Amino acid sequence: MILIIYAHPYPQHSHANKRMIELAGALEGVEIRSLYELYPDFNIDVAAEQEAVSRASLIIWQHPMQWYSVTPLLKLWIDKVLAHGWAYGHGGTALRGKSVMWAVTTGGGDQHFDLGSHPGFDVLSQPLQATAIYCGLNWLPPFAAHCTFICDDETLQAQARQYKHRLLEWQEAQHG
Ligand SMILES: Cc1cc2nc3c(=O)[nH]c(=O)nc-3n(C[C@H](O)[C@H](O)[C@H](O)COP(=O)(O)O)c2cc1C
Repeated sequence: MILIIYAHPYPQHSHANKRMIELAGALEGVEIRSLYELYPDFNIDVAAEQEAVSRASLIIWQHPMQWYSVTPLLKLWIDKVLAHGWAYGHGGTALRGKSVMWAVTTGGGDQHFDLGSHPGFDVLSQPLQATAIYCGLNWLPPFAAHCTFICDDETLQAQARQYKHRLLEWQEAQHG
């Protein structure tokens, strides 16, 4: 099962993530947990989240980039759900052997991250990658949809199709 931990603060105002979620959610074997809709009060049900994660083979952290980072509720999800004794530390083996993918949309274009005037995309992904590795998760190449401010509908839809394709490829690799 692919579990998408979707952390958009205003899902009803989304253009990019909404399309990605629509296409990914139509696939068999994909479950979506929209954190801001489940937990508008930020009171995360840790047991329910851990139960969902335990059924997944691939976890996806999907969100719009905000200040070069994850959205606040996703950070809280990581802090609470990846608990000592469950995700790491003594007896903390629940995530071992699972994979994780970072799926992020950005307002900036890819050249914005490649110019060298500020940290590139690889650097920005490092806290998540380190977290994943620390918990025994297999870190997959991230999926990034850039330029979302100026993309037309067709480009946004094409990015969503690429996302769906990445998930299908992963599913096929598991079965084949
Ligand atoms: C508070 C805030 C901070 C943001 N910070 C960044 C940023 O650091 N880098 C960037 O490229 N885009 C940034 N953006 C733009 C969002 O990433 C962009 O609007 C979003 O990915 C579009 O996806 P959506 O259509 O699903 O909302 C920011 C947006 C907001 C509201």
